[in-house]
Amino acid sequence: MALRQTAFLFTLNKRSPNLNYVAQRLGSWWSQVEMGPPDAILGVTEAYKRDTNPNKINLGVGAYRDDNGKPYVLPCVRKAESQIAAKNLDKEYSPISGSADFCKYSIQLALGDDSEVVKSGRNATVQTISGTGALRVGAAFLKGFYPFSKTVYIPSPSWGNHTPIFKHSGMDVKSYKFYDPKSCGFDFEGACNDIMSIPEKSIILLHACAHNPTGVDPTPEQWQELSNLIKKKNLFPFFDMAYQGFASGNIDKDAHAVRLFLKEGHNIALCQSYAKNMGLYGERVGAFSITTADNDETARVLSQIKILIRPMYSNPPINGARIVSEILGDSKLKADWLLEVKEMANRIISVRSKLRENLKKEGSTRNWQHITDQIGMFCFTGLNAEQVDKLVKEHSVYLTKDGRISMAGVTSKNVEYLAHAIHQVTK
Ligand SMILES: Cc1ncc(COP(=O)(O)O)c(C=O)c1O
Repeated sequence: MALRQTAFLFTLNKRSPNLNYVAQRLGSWWSQVEMGPPDAILGVTEAYKRDTNPNKINLGVGAYRDDNGKPYVLPCVRKAESQIAAKNLDKEYSPISGSADFCKYSIQLALGDDSEVVKSGRNATVQTISGTGALRVGAAFLKGFYPFSKTVYIPSPSWGNHTPIFKHSGMDVKSYKFYDPKSCGFDFEGACNDIMSIPEKSIILLHACAHNPTGVDPTPEQWQELSNLIKKKNLFPFFDMAYQGFASGNIDKDAHAVRLFLKEGHNIALCQSYAKNMGLYGERVGAFSITTADNDETARVLSQIKILIRPMYSNPPINGARIVSEILGDSKLKADWLLEVKEMANRIISVRSKLRENLKKEGSTRNWQHITDQIGMFCFTGLNAEQVDKLVKEHSVYLTKDGRISMAGVTSKNVEYLAHAIHQVTK
């Protein structure tokens, strides 16, 4: 194709120099491509990097940092890596659905060791390219095989990638109320009212824990009510669980909503990620599951998910899945991991209290209770766009325009500076 085009342009040029312009136009395949906007979160990091202020803080990116503000590799991951290295394994392709051990450990982690669903083989689980890949595979499966609706209802607000992922898969996206700006908490009444008016058998996306971007989660009682309502409306629950263990420090507590829905008789879709809870961000390791009516349905669903994955990326990478399996399959390493994930969660929880205390010390009279009420990686501060702008320009504190800060970027060393800056823009 390219050769034929070159020959054609050469003939054009020889015939008339005036055709140069035409040739140049034809020679460029992409002249009509317009510049796209930068990614909202990565754009924040770019601006942070350019800033020369020694006190600058990056609260945009959702990746854990230790108390020195440095990326953190869990000691259990290091140990797992050396155990794996000692095995001298080959680098053969994975099956389309990924490592079978990894899939088994992942669904057990999500649903619990005593899960009736797992014991009776009522889960079709595949390894995916982290949580994003799980969502993308799940969206493709719904688009292809969910017969009742092509509309997904997501909370408002939701993780910025949810809408593009579902739209990219050919689904429609609508929203239901979730966040109450007045209380900086969960708008339970608003959510219930909106869910009541969702057409029957639509798909509803739920953040299992550590809601991104708000850090606001329903209480166990509210989850019970939501389960009842979703059952009454016959909606299909699609869980995104990107933070199991990272929210409260307890993997069982963070999986409460998912396990409750199953206990209540829902069949669900479930996305898992090991980016945050094992710090395996760049390994891109996660899982997607559908719970089914029986074994036979599991086999049929699994076969179709594999047919969807094959032309997307053939099969998933092996390294991250090996690390996860090594940890979850070794009782000593698993015990280490449970402590280490708890330490990460505890650091985030303690830095929330420190930020609140320091705001009080600064003399702020605003109610900052939501900083400690919210959970997980993010805090929805309630700062407006103008205040965010001032934080960036006058204090070199970088965050997304919606006022979301990544608590992982707050340390015992910068928390006073941060509280001072927030007070200056909000007093
Ligand atoms: C709610 C939610 N879902 C899914 C993901 C997917 O992350 P990853 O693809 O890195 O596992 C994230 C990451 O920030 C998230 O916050």
